[in-house]
Amino acid sequence: MKPIRKAVIPVAGLGTRFLPATKAQPKEMLPLVDKPVIQHVVEEAIHAGIESVILVTGRGKGAIENHFDVAYELEDTLSRRGRQDDLRQIQAITQLGRFAYVRQGEPLGLGHAVLCAQPTVGSESFALLLGDDVFDEADPALSALIKAHHESGVSVVGVQQVPLEHVSRYGIVNAPPNGDRWWKVHQIVEKPSPELAPSCWAVVGRYVLTPRIFHHLLALQPGVGGEYQLTDALAKLAEEGLLAATPIPAKRYDTGNKLDYLKANVEFALKREDLGPEFKAYLKGLTTSF
Ligand code: G1P
Repeated sequence: MKPIRKAVIPVAGLGTRFLPATKAQPKEMLPLVDKPVIQHVVEEAIHAGIESVILVTGRGKGAIENHFDVAYELEDTLSRRGRQDDLRQIQAITQLGRFAYVRQGEPLGLGHAVLCAQPTVGSESFALLLGDDVFDEADPALSALIKAHHESGVSVVGVQQVPLEHVSRYGIVNAPPNGDRWWKVHQIVEKPSPELAPSCWAVVGRYVLTPRIFHHLLALQPGVGGEYQLTDALAKLAEEGLLAATPIPAKRYDTGNKLDYLKANVEFALKREDLGPEFKAYLKGLTTSF
């Protein structure tokens, strides 16, 4: 089976869960410590063997393109000042992989965003990563999906168990665990109520999709919230017996959620060699004074 070379990352969303910070800047550029969320996601993709990253972008998202592009003035200044470490660090971002940008003119939903990438993806299987979901770097999430795709030969969604009261935030699968790396998906529903949820296994922003998905996306009708839902096209794949789920063991942070974003910042900072020890001592002091 061919390697997965391309990843699609939709970044056109308005970031309304994170106002006012996202009034004039893309939510994807908010940092986890000192690295934008989108860079964490792109690095996860590259780590899993992705060569080309296709960002589905929109108005007001120029900072993302600039972040992955050459920053001539900055590089020249750092070079003249002899700041080689900083220079290397920012040049490495440009060299992560190949970047392509397609525009999603209107916010018509995740299914529509993926369809916008079709001409750039072509007729090969590809990864899809949602930018709000960030996983612990020590345990790369996408690599697990690519393995499951190669074993199963079908499209794969990454899943984790969530509390019953949270199922209405996610796509939920009926995919009985079988002890293997991947499980056949019998049914997938977008944001069901707890009463109607087929399980507590939620799709958590990582997918490997075969080009068959475009066939179903092209036929989509607006679904939940009047948007073209990727989950509705995935449901068609499930009906055809062409969808699998694989559990993602890595810890996940929903960085579009303010509390989770704060937790991610604290935990990522604690793991840093340069900041961790001092930050830990500071936090210990804090807990005694609150
Ligand atoms: C999207 C998908 C949903 C998935 C979720 C993961 O929802 O539609 O199926 O479970 O991402 O984060 P959103 O968070 O964009 O509402």
